[in-house]
Amino acid sequence: MTYHSKIIGLGHYVPENIVTNDDLSKLIDTNDAWIKERTGIEQRRHVVKGSGETTTTMGVKAAQVAIERAGIDKQEIDFIVFATLSPDYYFPGPGVLVQRDLGIDTVGALDVRNQCSGFVYALSVADQYVKSGMYKNVLVIGSELQSHGMDMTTRGRNISVIFGDGAGAAIVSREEDLTKGILSTHLHSEGEHAEALSLLAPGMGSRWVTDILEENDPEDLSYYPYMDGQFVFKNAVVRFSEVINEGLRANELTKEDISLLVPHQANLRIAQFIQKKFGLSNDQVFNNIMKYGNTTAASIPIALTEAWEQGKVKEGDLVVLAAFGSGFTWGSAIIRW
Ligand code: UT7
Repeated sequence: MTYHSKIIGLGHYVPENIVTNDDLSKLIDTNDAWIKERTGIEQRRHVVKGSGETTTTMGVKAAQVAIERAGIDKQEIDFIVFATLSPDYYFPGPGVLVQRDLGIDTVGALDVRNQCSGFVYALSVADQYVKSGMYKNVLVIGSELQSHGMDMTTRGRNISVIFGDGAGAAIVSREEDLTKGILSTHLHSEGEHAEALSLLAPGMGSRWVTDILEENDPEDLSYYPYMDGQFVFKNAVVRFSEVINEGLRANELTKEDISLLVPHQANLRIAQFIQKKFGLSNDQVFNNIMKYGNTTAASIPIALTEAWEQGKVKEGDLVVLAAFGSGFTWGSAIIRW
């Protein structure tokens, strides 16, 4: 028996605390005009320190909404896939914490480490398990608490103005109609550029926390994320286009068949470039980076949830998800809703 997999429930959660561009300009040398012009971002959410909110707790809240909308009982979840670059603990990963916090059976829990492409990778994993018949309902989460790990001084401004916190979740479920659901996923990596967008410590092979403490070198910034912005931007526009085209071709579809493109919310300028390249209207590309910044693995599930809530994802629509980020990794998913 062959199956397809289908997203039957979506949910998102963002922390309450809104941080505007003007708020950031009080801490670092930046301004609203620069941030808006270069990225499209107007505000983002930051978890309040000491609030107890974590990548896992946000993921759980998003998951609870997705489970309810899917109309399933949480005990019907057969497997958890959790994508993040900002886990609560270095190990164990947040998948097991979700299993604990949701209070569900001892189902398997897998952590995906593919940064901005994390949700597309996680969705692809879920799709394979469901398609093969191994699992019926897979909970897929993308969640990030990035704000506490960024350099909130002028030194880190090319990163700290961009990234935000939040979570999104999807229930991926068995679909017997093979014309519906996830038609295909396409995943890529190019490790040659691993360091172009990276956080090198803690890492057993490079800089472990104990080394940093021992050396006590104020110049050592390897515990902050690093990004070569222009280089990442140039690669992103090429790879986004390639992987969307690859997905369309694999299904004998063309750009005219796209109902809605939900790109990873990396930078509004990247999304606009792709929109123009594919000849899509404003209604055919969903963007919410203005409100949330770049929430890495959470950005696609948050955007997809909001698009669905706004009635922009309808039965029969061809929905395209595409992402690019650290690794480099990139990917797409072609979905017949
Ligand atoms: O999600 C994963 C994938 N990530 C991405 O796709 C991000 C891709 N990259 C980008 O979005 C852009 O490269 C950025 C938004 C990060 C930066 O925009 P840019 O147009 O590439 O700016 P830049 O890095 O070339 O910097 C231009 C100037 C520099 O000043 P000088 O050297 O020209 O005097 C920077 O120091 O802007 C300065 N700058 C800032 N100024 C005000 C950098 N960050 C800021 C800031 N506020 N936050």
